Amino acid sequence: MARPHTEFYQTQNQPWVSDVRFDGLECKILSLDEATGAYTALQRLPDGYQAEGNYPSAANEEFYVLSGLMHINGLEYTPGCYGFFPAGHARLDWLALEPTILIRFFDSAPDPFDNQPEAIERARHRPPIPYLDSYRMQWDTRLHDPKLSHLGLGRKNLRVDPITGQRTFLFITSPQTHPANWRAPKESHPTPEEAYFLAGDLTGDRGTMRPGAYFWRPAHIPHGPYGSISGSMSLIRFIEGKHINYWTDENFVFQYREEYKPILPDAHADYAGEIPSVCPF
Ligand SMILES: [Fe+2]
Repeated sequence: MARPHTEFYQTQNQPWVSDVRFDGLECKILSLDEATGAYTALQRLPDGYQAEGNYPSAANEEFYVLSGLMHINGLEYTPGCYGFFPAGHARLDWLALEPTILIRFFDSAPDPFDNQPEAIERARHRPPIPYLDSYRMQWDTRLHDPKLSHLGLGRKNLRVDPITGQRTFLFITSPQTHPANWRAPKESHPTPEEAYFLAGDLTGDRGTMRPGAYFWRPAHIPHGPYGSISGSMSLIRFIEGKHINYWTDENFVFQYREEYKPILPDAHADYAGEIPSVCPF
């Protein structure tokens, strides 16, 4: 059973709960594959949290710091910092010097690493990315797909998986963007797409995402078209395959006042609900 279609909800509507996998921390599970144990979660570290020693995990993990300040493996991570730790990679002396929130992406259950053959296999040919500060990277504003030209977009590639081609990147759209003549085709992909929304607004066929919005969309589900009033930034992953855009032949109407139409699994049904725009108009 793969992860269910979850598109989209504002994670502000979801309460923090005690993290059953990480003692002393709180989390919000955003999506979960019950068969493999893979999941995506927000995690909150209290000020002064400290886990002395080395706690390597059996999962491959990507993480991105949203707020606060933490140390691990002798490196300092601030908002915008990213890492990829393959299974078995050191996790030495984890410490939070402020209340810290990060988003963590596990490709399997993060059990303690104990030289499990499947964990060693998962990590094979996947070198760690110990530390990236995305603020220090430049936006790639080259146009990779002409059908997205109306978005005035930019990307920062954080990681491309050397085996599957899976990609994790920051994605921005410009303000005052909408499809030419207010209509455009829908896109779909051969892999699941996952996003956590960081800034601005982005309107699509399921409503307007604002900071804190999250979706997990299985493969081959048409979506869009998209536009933005104030610009937008999100953290996006395409899972277990290359990022490829397929386009419908038909055009669909775009409007900024698109009704909120979430598709949520039972576990997230209570978190439906838009958050109000902070725009003064
Ligand atoms: Fe997409």
